[in-house]
Amino acid sequence: MKTTLADARIINLPKISDPRGNLTFIEGNGRHIPFDIKRAYWIYDVPGGEKRGGHAYRTNEEFIIALSGSFDVVLDDGTERKTFSLNRSYFGLYVPNMVWRQLENFSTNGVTLILASTAYSPDDYIRDFDAFLKEKRQ
Ligand code: TYD
Repeated sequence: MKTTLADARIINLPKISDPRGNLTFIEGNGRHIPFDIKRAYWIYDVPGGEKRGGHAYRTNEEFIIALSGSFDVVLDDGTERKTFSLNRSYFGLYVPNMVWRQLENFSTNGVTLILASTAYSPDDYIRDFDAFLKEKRQ
């Protein structure tokens, strides 16, 4: 559980450039991202100025991609805070478990794809930042 911001990182994905249009892919066997994909969800139609997230997961790991448009992911491991800007569909951000994450500064008409290492479980969420800090220190 002792993950830190050093475990989070931008991962470049294969990009097959083609005059007919580019193609990027991810295989779910740990080949491109460091976990087996159990779930995918996407966020879209975000009104200007809105924020998503604002929580941490106890076990779930994620890979976040700006399929179109752009937004910022703010990560906090309880010691330091870092902002990653996502704005291309051929790279994404790996977010380990037990790191606080918030998505903000969405452009209009953006689509965010999130690949997750676990099925959805409300019990895996820590939604209170002070509670997160407390669990982080345990
Ligand atoms: P949530 O992860 O809480 O998003 P945010 O932190 O941006 O508010 O998800 C919002 C709602 O969607 C919440 O009621 C749970 C539900 N949800 C699912 O049912 N399955 C999922 O895979 C996800 C990600 C969310």
